[in-house]
Parts: sequence; C-alpha cells; structure tokens
Amino acid sequence: MTRRDIVVLGSTGSIGTQAIDIVRRNPDRFRIVGIGAGGGAVDQLAAQAVELGVGVVGVARQDAAGALEGALRAAAADRSGVGRGFRFPKILSGPEAMQELAGWSCDIVLNGIVGSVGLAPTLTALTAGRIVALANKETLVAGGPLVRAAAVREGQIVPVDSEHSALAQCLRSGRATEVSRLVLTASGGAFRGRRRADLTAVTPAQALAHPTWAMGPVVTINSATLVNKGLEVIEANELFRIDYDRIEVMVHPQSVIHSLVEFFDGATIAQCSPPDMRLPIALALGWPDRVDGAIGGVDWSKSHTWQLDPLDEVAFPAVALAKAAGKAGRCLPAVYNAANEECVAAFCDHRLPFLGIVDTVERVLERTPDFQEPCTVEDVLAAESWARARAHEMIAVAGREA
Ligand SMILES: NC(=O)c1ccc[n+]([C@@H]2O[C@H](COP(=O)([O-])OP(=O)(O)OC[C@H]3O[C@@H](n4cnc5c(N)ncnc54)[C@H](OP(=O)(O)O)[C@@H]3O)[C@@H](O)[C@H]2O)c1
Repeated sequence: MTRRDIVVLGSTGSIGTQAIDIVRRNPDRFRIVGIGAGGGAVDQLAAQAVELGVGVVGVARQDAAGALEGALRAAAADRSGVGRGFRFPKILSGPEAMQELAGWSCDIVLNGIVGSVGLAPTLTALTAGRIVALANKETLVAGGPLVRAAAVREGQIVPVDSEHSALAQCLRSGRATEVSRLVLTASGGAFRGRRRADLTAVTPAQALAHPTWAMGPVVTINSATLVNKGLEVIEANELFRIDYDRIEVMVHPQSVIHSLVEFFDGATIAQCSPPDMRLPIALALGWPDRVDGAIGGVDWSKSHTWQLDPLDEVAFPAVALAKAAGKAGRCLPAVYNAANEECVAAFCDHRLPFLGIVDTVERVLERTPDFQEPCTVEDVLAAESWARARAHEMIAVAGREA
C-alpha cells in the first residue's frame, strides 16, 4: 500500500488534531505535508509543523504571519534534537492561503475548517485533482452545485462526518438502485428531550455541554439547535443524490449507531462504533481501505440498550427548515448556513436567545429574494452576504426589544 501525502486544513481544530493523531499512529500509511488554520492558535500550529516536518504551513489571517514565523523558530529551537533534519517550512498567509495549501502537491486534502469559508479551498483541491476528505459540511451546503461540477471522478469526495461515513459504509451493502431511505441519527444535543417552552432561557455554556461528542464550539451549538443535523441532511442529499423525502432523522442518544440505510426489500443496515471521530477520519484518509485499530470497537461483553426516537420538530424545527431550503435549492441552503453562522455568534455573545437562532434563520429564509442556482463562488458569497446582513438587522432588533 503506497503512503498517502495529506494536507490538513484546520489542523488546530477538533477534526484536525484527531487527524494528526491518526497519522502519527500510522506513519507507514500517511504523511502530512502541509497544514493550515485560521491564525488563532499559532503556537499550536507551529508545534504541529515542527513535529510533522511539513513543507508548508498557512494562516488565513494576514496579521498572524509574523507571530507564526516567531512561533516556528521557537518550536524548532525547542526541538533541536529533532531539528537536525528540520527544514524551515514555507509560510503562507492571508485570505488565499488555504486555497494555496489546497492546491499543494499531495494525494488528499482533509478539509477540517469550520464555516463556509471552507468552500473555496475544497473547489481548489478538487480542480487540482486531489481527493478531498471533507469534514467541512458547509462546503456542500453553501456550494453543492459548484462542488458537484468540480468533482470530476467518482469517489473524489470522501465524507468525514460520522453520519455520512456511516452511510457510505452501509451503502456498500447493496446497489444504489436498491436504496429506499437514508436514516441519519442525531444525538439530540445538549437539550435532547426538552420541549420548546423549556428552551427560552438556556445559556451558551449549557448549549456547549454536549453529552456524547467533544467538538468545536460552532458545531456543538449547532448540535444543540439541531441545525447541524439540518446541514447534514443537505450534505447527505448532495453526496448521495437521494431526494429529501427519502432522508429521515432519528434521535439516538447513545451516539453508537451513526446512521442507517434501508433497502427496498425491507433490510436496514446500520453502522455502529463508539462515538470517536478518529474512525471516520481514518476511513476517509484510507478510503476505500480501513485503518487497522483506528479505534477500539463496541464492547460486546456488556449489555447495551440503543434507543431511537423520532425528532420533536416543534422544539427543534431546524431539520424541517433545512429540508425546505434544500428542496427549494438555488442559494437557500447557503442562506440557511450563513444566517445561522451569524446567529450562533450572536447567541454566544448573549445578543440573541437560543430559540432566536433558528427563528431568525427562518425569517431570513422567508425574505430571501429570487437568487438563482449558484454558478460561481461569487454567487454564493453574494447570497451569503445578503443573509448575513439580514440576520444582523434582525439580531439588532431582537436586542433592542429584549
Ligand atoms: N468536531 C467534530 O467532531 C466534527 C464532526 C463532524 C463534522 N465536523 C465539521 O468539521 C468542521 C470543523 O469542525 P471542528 O469541530 O474541528 O471545529 P474547530 O474545533 O472549531 O476547528 C476549526 C478549525 O478551522 C480553523 N479556521 C477557522 N477559521 C478559519 C479560516 N478563516 N481559515 C482557515 N481555517 C480556519 C481553526 O483555526 P484556528 O485554531 O486558528 O482558529 C481550526 O483549526 C466543521 O465544518 C464541522 O461541522 C466536526
């Protein structure tokens, strides 16, 4: 098996650090040749660059370049034993840095950036012929039609999201024409089981306390609102080309069944494993081959009870809203995501109540003008900036009324 060279975008985040862990433990299978992040954690980024011996390291924030260079010098000096063969990496910085990294010579680009800012690097990587291991679901939500056009061969996009990785695994059990339904599981987030009336005064700290998964802050808040599941439904439609009426969501608090595929003879195939993102990350990097010992499996010497409940769509309307945006198409999924990004930031700053997140996204969607199906990144950016501006206005009004 030839070793695969990987560029990791978002290397300092939850997905990025777990990907590095997989690579560290499998040096015969994988090598990281480039890394990049936003610029909020340059010491960590520099330490990663020195440890991995990458040829290139990038930061999206132009003003973080100087700090990164200093941190690289300090990290290299700290590890002088390792440093004998150490070659100072090329530094990229600024808004184009992630795209430059995405086009760097490698086999796989792992996109673990948070937010729709991940779209342009995904497109660059696909156009350069790379395989994209995609954690950045916002890429497919904001720019699905563009991504489909840029992915020139089957299997060029490999999902990292645990649900989509599970679906891809289950889909190996039958032919595409035999699939009747996809069932995505949702942990239910921090507020599973609560009614709408119980959610009026919940705080960011409470929303960030996820019961089963340790993830970055935005995806954790999105889990609490179920927006994350809404984004994943759109992602599933884009990846597997199954229409929205055949994609279901079930709440599964144990987070062990990662998703299910129902075939037309009534058989349902599920993928189960402990809640640990290193399994889908490893599978995405090794796809179609598995990585031996990526994680420990389920302990079959114990009894388990796995629960599956229908989603309470009154308390958590985000999935139905995402399906409606996905069915409408054009730029509505991008509007859904961009408005949500602004609302999550406002909620975290105590400028918007929890229920205001999805309510505001819904009101932004209702006012969306007749955008066309996006043909370029600029089309997506125009829809997003319209959505962000409307969301800001509504958040400001909500703040004045509170
Ligand atoms: N965490 C999970 O378990 C999980 C599971 C499934 C899917 N996902 C998806 O994976 C993506 C990443 O999630 P996460 O939980 O890993 O997020 P996270 O922990 O918040 O990490 C985000 C990463 O993106 C970087 N970043 C932020 N803004 C950037 C920009 N403008 N340009 C380049 N890099 C930027 C951050 O760099 P700094 O450190 O410099 O800010 C950090 O490395 C999201 O799309 C999420 O929905 C995550």
